[in-house]
Amino acid sequence: MQILTTAAGLQAYTEQARQTGKRVGLVPTMGALHAGHLQLVQAARAECDEVIVSLFVNPTQFNNAEDFRLYPRVPEADAVLLEPVGCTALFVPSVAEMYPRPTVLRFDFGSLEQVMEGAHRPGHFNGVATVVSKLFHLARPHRAYFGQKDWQQVAVIRQLVADLSFDLEIVACPTIREADGLAMSSRNLRLDAGARAAAPLLHRVLAAAADQVRAGVMPAEVRAAAAAALAQEPLLTPEYFEVADAQTLQPLAHYGAGRDVLLCLAAHLGGVRLIDNVVAAA
Ligand code: PAF
Repeated sequence: MQILTTAAGLQAYTEQARQTGKRVGLVPTMGALHAGHLQLVQAARAECDEVIVSLFVNPTQFNNAEDFRLYPRVPEADAVLLEPVGCTALFVPSVAEMYPRPTVLRFDFGSLEQVMEGAHRPGHFNGVATVVSKLFHLARPHRAYFGQKDWQQVAVIRQLVADLSFDLEIVACPTIREADGLAMSSRNLRLDAGARAAAPLLHRVLAAAADQVRAGVMPAEVRAAAAAALAQEPLLTPEYFEVADAQTLQPLAHYGAGRDVLLCLAAHLGGVRLIDNVVAAA
């Protein structure tokens, strides 16, 4: 596995791969890797000749300086996990390498980012779109892999790819969960024992809401039931719970025929912000 630390090194590596007819897969990450990330790498390995994993805690997507400071960083452990699952090159740039000067360009994803994560983390998707665009330009992958736990992020990146005509395919892989239902997340490393014990409630609430949607319970009632269930856990401070159209991400008052329903939430548990979602298929 090659270790690349410069933008020029990444460009040269992937350019050479393309020139020899290889298919390039890119898995952008912020490190502190778990089984969800490794699944993305394995999917890339199955479909591409070169699998580039980027490992970069991107400062521009954090709207909270403390969250950025505390984000887990374990690059040596990440590197050990990556080689056996088929990563061929690890791109680990510094902040100065990715941002030699402050960015001026600003992305606006309209209604896609006026809800949920976009509404609660101003500037977040601008930072995501900035760094993902840079990675796409540098690596020019044939395919890029993202996890569905960040459903809204995937929707925003698909829009980015469409609007800027990036010549690549986005592959979204399912959320990987712990045995008790907790969605795998790098932030889980920061949960203390009490918060970790309470955390599976998030998925239980989403699963119950999905059952209600399938039973035809109206969105307002689903929201109220979820709020009541989340309020039972004193360690948990809910930020939002939403019943939305899975494609447009807009909050629903009624269900549309043939439209998948996205149930998603964000909550703080012992000082750690977690998100999760499930989709109730139409
Ligand atoms: O999902 C993440 O880990 C990040 O938002 C991403 C896509 C690597 C951009 O920094």
